[in-house]
Amino acid sequence: MALKAFTGKSPRILVTGAVGQIGSELTPALRQRYGAENVVAAGHKKPPSPELRDGGPFEFIDVTRRETIEAVVEKYNIDTIYHLAAILSAAGEKNPQLAWDVNINGLYNVLEVARERKLARVFCPSSIAAFGPETPRDNTPQETVLRPRTMYGVTKVTGELLCDYYFYRFGVDVRGVRYPGIISSETPPGGGTTDYAVEIFYEAIKHKRYNCFLREDTVLPMMYMPDCIKATIQLMEADLSRLTRHSDYNLAAFSFSPAELVAEIKKHIPDLACTYNPDFRQQIADSWPRSIDDSAARRDWGWKPDYDLASMVADMLEKLGKKHAEGKL
Ligand code: SER
Repeated sequence: MALKAFTGKSPRILVTGAVGQIGSELTPALRQRYGAENVVAAGHKKPPSPELRDGGPFEFIDVTRRETIEAVVEKYNIDTIYHLAAILSAAGEKNPQLAWDVNINGLYNVLEVARERKLARVFCPSSIAAFGPETPRDNTPQETVLRPRTMYGVTKVTGELLCDYYFYRFGVDVRGVRYPGIISSETPPGGGTTDYAVEIFYEAIKHKRYNCFLREDTVLPMMYMPDCIKATIQLMEADLSRLTRHSDYNLAAFSFSPAELVAEIKKHIPDLACTYNPDFRQQIADSWPRSIDDSAARRDWGWKPDYDLASMVADMLEKLGKKHAEGKL
């Protein structure tokens, strides 16, 4: 089900992390919905895609330097921030200090700008990484144990608490979901534990083989990018009065293991060969849930995913296959 058409006054949006995996697809979707001139893309490196570069305003921001955020908010009269700039789980284990700095100080800066300038709304994603080894792993409840063992997870739990604090203490309307692993065909992710589920498509199409860094039976919650974008926009457009939570909605679409993903891809590429050589990311994956109870999101703002494993795989292979044929992979 597509999003309902947008009517009303358009928000003035800033997207941080616009060059990242989610930002590079969320930004064009927001531009289409609210008008290109109303959506400022921001990153700390040059956007590689012409759509991001030329499809609307682009600015450089370093989220750890508050003045760079303030300058853009001021210049474009921003009232809504989608704060996507972050260091992911595996990259965070390689450099925990940087992960803390970007994920926590970056978020704090965004929230302070939102408080001082009385912005209308802020989106800040959390993640399945907020959970830890003591969390029930199947159908993980909304309210449960949050004792992550990765720095990324620590920053996500801290972020959820900080966002809720800003809502209750200062009235900043901050919203967020706990994203599962996101699969997409545009910008490859960087530094995550669920990234195998994207890499495998590139390798399957180019070389018909893949060496997976997780064990074949490691089940994790996942979601296809169109659903990720739909969920994000739906939550941001929901009536505040309907929300029983703010920055920590569980969100799910489907779960699978590497072996199950390989079996589904093999329906299209029968001679795909996959080997398994788990590395340090296995331990991270083993501390995360296998499936998620997202009934609060379904109840409060009508969340429902469109894609399952089979339709996601078919669409990924079609999109990436086309790019490969055009020599763009
Ligand atoms: N996809 C993220 C990661 O693997 C989880 O939020 O780090």
